[in-house]
Amino acid sequence: MTTNKTSNDQSINKNERTRLFYDPNSLSSFNGFRIVHTYFDLKVDFDSNILDGYVQLDVKPLDNQSCDCSSTITTENKEIPNNHGNKLVLDSRHLNIKKVVFISNTNEILLTFQVDTERESLIINMTDISKDSLISIRIYYSTSDTKCTALQWLTKEQTADKQHPYMFSQCQAIHARSLYPCQDTPGVKSTYSAKITCPKPLTVLMSGLQTNYDEQTNTFYFEQQQAVASYLIAIAVGHLVSYDLSSRIRVWTEPSMIKQCQYEFEESEKFLTEAEQLLGEYKWKRYDFLVLPPSFPYGGMENPCMNFLTPTLLAGDRSLTSTIVHEMTHSWTGNLVTNENWEHFWLNEGFTSFIEAKLVGNLDKTNGKEIRRFHAAQQWQDLKTTVATWGAEHPYTCLVYRLNNVDPDDAYSSVQYYKGAALLWHLEQNIIDSESKFDEFLRSYIIKFGETILNTDDFIKYFESYFPQAPSVDWQSWLYTPGMPPVTHNFSTKLEENCHQLANQQSPITKEQMNSLNAKQVAYLLNLLLSNDQSKITYDYIKQIDINCDMSKYSNCEIRFRWYQLCIRVKYEKVLDDIFKFLEIIGRMKFVKPLYVEFKSSWPEMLPRVKTFFEEHKKYMNPITVKQIEIRLNN
Ligand code: BES
Ligand code: ZN
Repeated sequence: MTTNKTSNDQSINKNERTRLFYDPNSLSSFNGFRIVHTYFDLKVDFDSNILDGYVQLDVKPLDNQSCDCSSTITTENKEIPNNHGNKLVLDSRHLNIKKVVFISNTNEILLTFQVDTERESLIINMTDISKDSLISIRIYYSTSDTKCTALQWLTKEQTADKQHPYMFSQCQAIHARSLYPCQDTPGVKSTYSAKITCPKPLTVLMSGLQTNYDEQTNTFYFEQQQAVASYLIAIAVGHLVSYDLSSRIRVWTEPSMIKQCQYEFEESEKFLTEAEQLLGEYKWKRYDFLVLPPSFPYGGMENPCMNFLTPTLLAGDRSLTSTIVHEMTHSWTGNLVTNENWEHFWLNEGFTSFIEAKLVGNLDKTNGKEIRRFHAAQQWQDLKTTVATWGAEHPYTCLVYRLNNVDPDDAYSSVQYYKGAALLWHLEQNIIDSESKFDEFLRSYIIKFGETILNTDDFIKYFESYFPQAPSVDWQSWLYTPGMPPVTHNFSTKLEENCHQLANQQSPITKEQMNSLNAKQVAYLLNLLLSNDQSKITYDYIKQIDINCDMSKYSNCEIRFRWYQLCIRVKYEKVLDDIFKFLEIIGRMKFVKPLYVEFKSSWPEMLPRVKTFFEEHKKYMNPITVKQIEIRLNN
């Protein structure tokens, strides 16, 4: 097979960042103007729970910006307007816009603007401004204290140490627009810098490098020199301490958690070195991360230079560190190579999940192949569960889905992660049949699309030009057909088979059997019980497992939430209080969504209590989690 490492496709123009594209989730005029640099000057106000100050956007008019609104281009048969000529349209959700000015060398010129609350847009009139060069627009604003979906404000009582308030952001997928007016699409990448002031003794962290600190005013300065999409803007403020895990890796968290973090994440440098081996040089200088309070809605978020992680990874035995490998991998796939809109989300998450399993294998120098296969088998099992939950006909079980009038959060699930990873596994193992050739392809893909954006067609074109002799791939079924993939993978590993045996035996699992499994296997076994033929999952069966194995001893959240799901399914009331305690503390959606769903489908008598509990607690929960639980409880 010959490989062709150079492609003559010129549609990706890295330096100019001017490719026209489509994004159903942004109404901003990104095909008329491009933000190339963003500067934040903000104060963090814990009395009113707002950020207040201004953002300055350096905007580059595109050549086609002078066309009027009616001009459109099309790709994939979709219209691409988002080019409004004399108007700069920005995404803006519940922001209090006070003043907009045009900054020229010597003076500030007031610009007129309108806020369209329904369409969540800020429309700035640019009629009198020359579109010949870079335009600087400064917008004075503050965030909403009650409707900012990107930020969660915690009172001091809600933190681990209970001494100081805390605030953190989560912008992916489309919450950046509630943090600052922007082109809130992954298709636009901007460098950024920031000056953020907060009360002493709190620390500000952002998804960039800290460049300065003014002790007098407690002001923190940041810079992100690589252009990043709006969803990668991140900020956290709290009483934080840090520990250096290596010369380029530092973990941040509240004081009472730092020791645990130090132990759990000690191997991070080894992970990063292994990732560089596979993917090429790490381009972001530092790899720091923040371990957040338990209400953080995700396992991790790949904020550049400063990943955010859930404290539920602190299992005490380093058994959940593959999430760090995942977030780290996004430094290449996601943060350098980025999906052009959220319909092609699998290009971020599918690639990252596939590489995560590969790296988890590469990190094990004795049994790597088996470990990788078991990791991939877990992902496949997870895919099965998720497809079953949506229903095999559901459009969101397609690898590429349509998001017109849909918030990407509402379509979010593991499908794009693990169906995507399964496609790449298929390409590597069945189509190319050589891991080393496929690794080379991955490196070349990152060089080709690094620092820019792409969609699924770009990927296929590149794959086919790189492997011109490869057998043909049933792209249609893989990408656009709902349900499980057209090819069923068999990972056949010993680690997996042991679990299957226990899941299939008629008698409840014994203590010795359970103790023979490692933490990942226990989670996998519980998954099998959750998805197997249900006839034997009875109250007595679950109770007997609990008696045999003392399931309450497992503090590992990956095990706990699956065990709780089984308990709700058979109405095993003994653990009910534990479940409510878990729901009170933990906000990670991967864990709490399935529990609410399980109550709804398996234990309807408990629903009034569940709903009352939710109503009482939602004011303390993350706004993103609240919306997703509401959807599940009310439908
Ligand atoms: N980027 C995602 C988190 C995300 C996706 C936030 C979409 C908002 C919208 C992150 O990299 C992720 O995938 N987290 C996973 C980790 C897991 C797959 C190892 C999670 O939160 O569970
Ligand atoms: Zn991810």
